[in-house]
Amino acid sequence: MRKSVGIAVLMGICGLLVLASGAFAADVEIGCAIYKFDDTFMTGVRNAIAEAAKDKAKVDIVDSQNSQSTQNDRVDMFITKRMNSMAINPVDRTAAGVIIDKAKAENIPVVFFNREPLPEDMHKWDKVYYVGAKAEESGTMSGQIIVDYWTSHPEADRNGDGVLQYVMLKGEPGHQDAELRTEFSMKAVADAGIKVEKLAEDTGLWDRVRGQEKMAAFLAAHGDKIEAVFANNDDMALGAIEALKAAGYFKDGKFMPVVGVDATAPAIQALEEGTLLGTVLNDAVNQGVATFNLAYLLAKGETPTSENAGYEITDGQYVWVPYKKVTLENVAEFK
Ligand code: GAL
Ligand code: CA
Repeated sequence: MRKSVGIAVLMGICGLLVLASGAFAADVEIGCAIYKFDDTFMTGVRNAIAEAAKDKAKVDIVDSQNSQSTQNDRVDMFITKRMNSMAINPVDRTAAGVIIDKAKAENIPVVFFNREPLPEDMHKWDKVYYVGAKAEESGTMSGQIIVDYWTSHPEADRNGDGVLQYVMLKGEPGHQDAELRTEFSMKAVADAGIKVEKLAEDTGLWDRVRGQEKMAAFLAAHGDKIEAVFANNDDMALGAIEALKAAGYFKDGKFMPVVGVDATAPAIQALEEGTLLGTVLNDAVNQGVATFNLAYLLAKGETPTSENAGYEITDGQYVWVPYKKVTLENVAEFK
């Protein structure tokens, strides 16, 4: 009799423990794949996801090493391990459809981020979300930064022909941010009534070393004819600044307006040093937190709403984190 009471008490305690650990949610597991770890901005997003997950869920974050087939293997592994949801930063955004098909078949919700799947893929399933920023917005803002400089510095028109001769470091071809920033920065310049002449354009692939090499080549080909440098991210802008320094810029009154996007820590520093003219905040922290929040709700079987996610959800599947212009005037806010 006494023994069975003891066992009953023990079982009760065990039951409570199981309940408590359930509430703990340490058993919520999220599989997260980044297109490549070696990317400055994505490292910021990755750290924000890891930080947001603390004490809530176990997030298994893996490197896709810039290979879609490696990423597909990672996704298969997440599915085999029965992750509760997945957060995926595609290598090739057109590959999202295949990932969605697999996830849907196994009923594992997916949050994509930073590389936007095509709308037809997003429509394949209602447990698919996207967290990102409106690329058009960043293009418009970086264009406006150059416009402001050009209109307030008549000497910026070095050859005095009334035309802005520029070079463009575009970023990875096919990436919405590369395509739309290029288009909308130029649109902002055109909207301001400024005539332009493109001297050169190259991809630069979001990379600092490549940005430096391309800028060195642009300088070799066009020299002082270049009047502005548009770089669609800060790493390429910082690379371009290195090449410009090597060519004698940023001393003895020789200046070149260079604009970037992301507002990474080294870019903010360059801005304060007076080399980078301006950048646009690509909000890694809020993109990371929003991605985690959605993946976490979905992992627990809940339906994300603007209220429970803490971020406005538009068209049922999208969270858009706003960009902000960063120049010397407001740089203090971004440190
Ligand atoms: C962009 C960002 C780039 C690069 C890219 C990766 O939003 O501006 O620096 O990180 O994402 O997909
Ligand atoms: Ca000119």
